[in-house]
Amino acid sequence: MSKASGSVDQSKFIIWLKIMTVRIERNGKIGIVTVGNPPVNALSRSVRQGLLDAAEEFDRDPDISIVLLTCAGRTFIAGADISEFDRPPVEPHLPDVVRRIETAEKPWIAAIHGAALGGGLELALGCAWRLAAASASLGFPEVNLGLVPGAGGCARAPRLIGAEQALELVTSGRPVSALKARELGLVDAVVEGDFRKGLLSFARAKLDEKRPIILSETSIEYVAPIDWNAKENSIKKKARGAIAPLRALECIKAAVTVPVNDALDIERETFLELRESAQSRALRHVFFAERNALKPDDLKGAIQKPVKTVGVVGAGTMGTGIACCLRDAGFQVVLLERDRETLDAGLKHIQSIYEAAAKRGRMTEAAVLARMAGVRGVLSADGMADTDLVIEAVFEDLDLKRSIFKEISDHCHEDTILATNTSYLDSDLIFEGVTNQDRTLGLHFCSPANVMKLVEVVPTRGTSRKTAATGYALVRALRKIPVRSGICDGFIGNRLLKILRLQAEKLLLAGAKASEIDSAMKAYGLAMGPFEAQDLAGLDVAAMQRAAARERRETVFAPISDRLVEEGRLGQKSRAGWYDYPDGSRLPNPSNHVQQIVAEEQARCATGTLPAGLALAEAVILPMVNEAAQILEEGVASSASDIDLVMIHGYGHPRWRGGLLFDAEQNGLDDTVRKLEILNAAGLADGPCERLKAAAKMGHF
Ligand code: 3HC
Ligand code: NAI
Repeated sequence: MSKASGSVDQSKFIIWLKIMTVRIERNGKIGIVTVGNPPVNALSRSVRQGLLDAAEEFDRDPDISIVLLTCAGRTFIAGADISEFDRPPVEPHLPDVVRRIETAEKPWIAAIHGAALGGGLELALGCAWRLAAASASLGFPEVNLGLVPGAGGCARAPRLIGAEQALELVTSGRPVSALKARELGLVDAVVEGDFRKGLLSFARAKLDEKRPIILSETSIEYVAPIDWNAKENSIKKKARGAIAPLRALECIKAAVTVPVNDALDIERETFLELRESAQSRALRHVFFAERNALKPDDLKGAIQKPVKTVGVVGAGTMGTGIACCLRDAGFQVVLLERDRETLDAGLKHIQSIYEAAAKRGRMTEAAVLARMAGVRGVLSADGMADTDLVIEAVFEDLDLKRSIFKEISDHCHEDTILATNTSYLDSDLIFEGVTNQDRTLGLHFCSPANVMKLVEVVPTRGTSRKTAATGYALVRALRKIPVRSGICDGFIGNRLLKILRLQAEKLLLAGAKASEIDSAMKAYGLAMGPFEAQDLAGLDVAAMQRAAARERRETVFAPISDRLVEEGRLGQKSRAGWYDYPDGSRLPNPSNHVQQIVAEEQARCATGTLPAGLALAEAVILPMVNEAAQILEEGVASSASDIDLVMIHGYGHPRWRGGLLFDAEQNGLDDTVRKLEILNAAGLADGPCERLKAAAKMGHF
């Protein structure tokens, strides 16, 4: 194609896009602007240009007195187009579009249905009035992408709803409902019922009303001074290393303390600076990785089995958590236990989870009753007769799991999907002997199952496309993140967790204290340190796994963990583990006794020392990166971003690092290999890094 013909085509394409993404029409004196940029009406270049053109057009038209901004499809504008953030910003810039609308001769009304997020809400703040459907939500989620609102949201929101409320909205990233927005003053009215009818009558009423003062020309009412230091400390604590919430606080502070134009400049500069930051790149990576994980390419078009009733076998830690999240998503649950007492205890536990939520105001008492009414406890496998899918969560014992599936498959429909929540066992062996193996798979939830978002979907040899697609659909319905894992000891997550614990124990032997290692890992961004986390979960689970590995004649190195378990130091539940928990306290107290055990094991085991220049966190994380490279090489994980999601959603890795492998790539894989070799030489890591070296050569995984 010649250059000349290429440029003609491109301009035609842009005109076509403008026609498609922003449409205008007239209804008497009301000009109507409709944004139609599926799926979420993001503010791509063509939308921004279309909005400017619409403002010009209606300002010129003497028959138009007011302009309604509406959106086609399922939502109002969900923000800037995130996929544009990897490219330099192009005109027209969003702040200019907002300003143009704000100062238009004909006042604009934002008609919000679905979600008004980020740039979408900023655009709405540029309008003279805001009207929302009762089901709408509004918010500034920019901090979740490592950003601050960059088109006047920080400067305008405090002028509309006050500094304190704006600070909460912008630094938390959490959206609010239309009703809450009305309460805050973020919207002028909420429409119950027919939205289109409601918005036209709202617009007609505004035809005779005086236009409110332009927000960015409003002086700020800063009545109750904010204790910025206290706010900063509390935001810092929650942010766990994320920088955007703190930068958002600075922008809100500027909005209330400096002239508005300066505040707008500070906000825009902060936005542009953060857009280029490693944290924002990482968070954008996670945003798209999460969405890709929900719909794997190879399951496109696969038929799913409709699921209404789910059987859960075992009402222990996992079974009760799984039952809760199934009920939250509206599934009927049949809960099978081996005896009445354990079943009752399980049901009581489920109820206590809901009652705690009701106490915190997260659900009503009526909802608690409704949730419980949908759980039927049974003591025999014939109770599973009408289930569409069964999730087994009994003890981690191969023979037990096999016998349970044999029994259940005798009672349920022949196409009832059979899933195991095993952590370490080979699911192919679990389902051996079950009829119709195409309906079997692993669904590995993380603990606590009603909280953690990760579910590893583990196909067996027999899993059909329909079964896999149904498993994915179930996980999506639970609002969790499905990640496919091949069968191996511990799947993706627990296999990496094993390395984390191993490295932490080696560092103890190398002379670091448990509390130092925990602090270093929390400073890295983990939700909990490795020793605190083990004390919370209980040391016995990993001990059973080590015992099984030893039975398979594998070498397992865990001298200190083994000693603690031998002594019955199983963690918080026995008031002693890596730390002491005197009088049932949950606060970890460093233990002289554990220190003594460490000293004895140091004398027995050949241990290295941490080489100068390497941080404690690196000695833990880099061998995990190495193992992750191996997991990818073996095809246990389908992509590097799947491993990232596993660590973020199942194991408390900081979202702002983008996950284990994204972070390693950002830090340079060559450097990772170099440091790993130093650790290897120091005896603090084992394992060749050939796979990692290959990735380093390519520059990526
Ligand atoms: N830009 C580009 N694509 C977006 C997008 C955005 N802002 N928001 C969503 N998408 C895409 C998703 O990637 C997905 O694409 P796919 O179908 O190819 O996977 C598709 O839209 C649908 O998204 P979801 O699957 O998330 O749809 P849901 O219905 O579950 O959720 C939503 C809808 C609540 C709008 C959710 O998509 C969301 O939260 N989006 C992000 C909103 C956001 O962060 N906005 C702020 C952007 S930054 C900004 O505005 C800066 C400004 O201050 C200058
Ligand atoms: P648990 O010990 O808390 O509960 C197991 C339950 O199974 C008990 O209530 C027991 O009475 C019941 N049970 C035993 N035999 C039964 C039978 N024949 N019929 C019906 N119920 C029977 O165990 P937990 O921790 O809930 O683990 C369950 C499974 O989930 C295991 O496979 C485990 O590896 C896996 N898992 C555990 C995680 C954890 O952190 N606890 C995380 C992810 C998976």
